[in-house]
Amino acid sequence: MKNHIRYSESEQALFLLDQRFLPEQEKWFVCRRVKDVVEAIQTMVIRGAPALGVTAGYGCCLAVASQDPADPEWQKIVNEKLNRLAKARPTAVNLSHTVARMRGYWKADADIGFRDLCWMWLQLAKDIHLEDISGNKKMGRIGEKLFQDGQTVMTHCNAGALATGGYGTALGVFRAAKSAGKKITVIANETRPFLQGARLTAYELHKDGIPVKIACDNAAGLLMVRGLVDAVLVGADRIAANGDTANKIGTYSLAILAREHGIPFYVAAPTTTIDPQAMSGEDIPIETRPAAEVTHIGECRITPRDIPVYNFAFDVTPHHLITNIITEKGLLEPPYKQSLDAILKQRYQ
Ligand code: MRU
Repeated sequence: MKNHIRYSESEQALFLLDQRFLPEQEKWFVCRRVKDVVEAIQTMVIRGAPALGVTAGYGCCLAVASQDPADPEWQKIVNEKLNRLAKARPTAVNLSHTVARMRGYWKADADIGFRDLCWMWLQLAKDIHLEDISGNKKMGRIGEKLFQDGQTVMTHCNAGALATGGYGTALGVFRAAKSAGKKITVIANETRPFLQGARLTAYELHKDGIPVKIACDNAAGLLMVRGLVDAVLVGADRIAANGDTANKIGTYSLAILAREHGIPFYVAAPTTTIDPQAMSGEDIPIETRPAAEVTHIGECRITPRDIPVYNFAFDVTPHHLITNIITEKGLLEPPYKQSLDAILKQRYQ
C-alpha cells in the first residue's frame, strides 16, 4: 500500500487515497489548499494518527506554496493556516506534533525567504514521511518477536499502511511476522461506527496474503473465553507520559477483557505518538464525531429519528492493562513513566 499519500511538486497538490470508499472503490481526493487538507482530515478521507502526521507535513507545504510572496502578510497567513491544520482533529497528537516540528525549523531560520521556506518544508515533509515508513519497519521487526508461528491475534480499528506513511504499526508487526516466516491469523474487529477494521484492515491484510477473519466488536469476550485469541495488538493515537494510551473507541473494553482472560495486550506506536505534555489519560482530548456516523450506514438510516447518540471516537486504556508498548526505538516495559521518558530522549536520533 505504497503512495496512498502523494505530493506532486509540479501540480502543487496533495493526492490522498480516499478511505471513505474503500474497499469497493479506489478514488483520489486532491488537496490544493490547506482548507482541502483540513476537510480531508475531518471527513476521514485520510485517518490514523501517523498518516495524519505525514499529511500535515505536506499540508504545511501547501500553506506556504499557495501564498503570494509579494503580500507583506504572507507569513501571518501561513501561521494562521498552520493553526487550523494542527487543530483539524484533536486526539491524534501526530498532527500537532508535525506542525510544531515544521514551525520549529521556520523559527530557527526566521528570516528565510519564501522560496527557501517552500523548499525546506518540502524536504522536511518528505523526511517525515520516509521516517514514518522506516520507523514502522523497525517497529515491525521488534514487535514480531513477541508472536509465535500459528498464533491468532486480535486487532481493533486500522493501524496499517493506510493509517501511516505506508507500512503500518500493528499491521506492520503482522507484515514483519510474515516476512520472518510465521503464520499469524488476525482477527479484525469490525470497529463501529466507521468500520475501519471490517473495511480497511481486512482489505490490507487480505491483499498481503495474511490470513484475516472479521469479527463483530461485541464478539471479543466470546472469542477470548473460547481460547480463540492468543494476544491483542492495537495502534495508538496518543500515549501519555505514564503510558495511558488513547486509541479507537472500544480498545479500553478489549484491554479489560484481555486482562480477565490472561491474554497479553500490546500497543504498537511510533515515538511521534508519545505526548510528554499529557501526564495521564485525563489530559488527552477525546474527539466526538457527528451523530450521523452512528445513526446511518452509508446513506441508510438505521436508528429511529430524533434519538441522541454517543459518538466518542476514542477511549483511553490505562497503562496497567498494557503488557508492552512496541516502538521503533525498542520494546517498552512497565513502569512506562521511566521507559517512555528514556525513549523520548532518543526521539530524533
Ligand atoms: O478515527 P481514526 O480512524 O483516525 O482512528 C485511528 C485509530 O484509532 C488507530 O488505531 C490509530 O490512529 C493508530 S494508526 C497506526
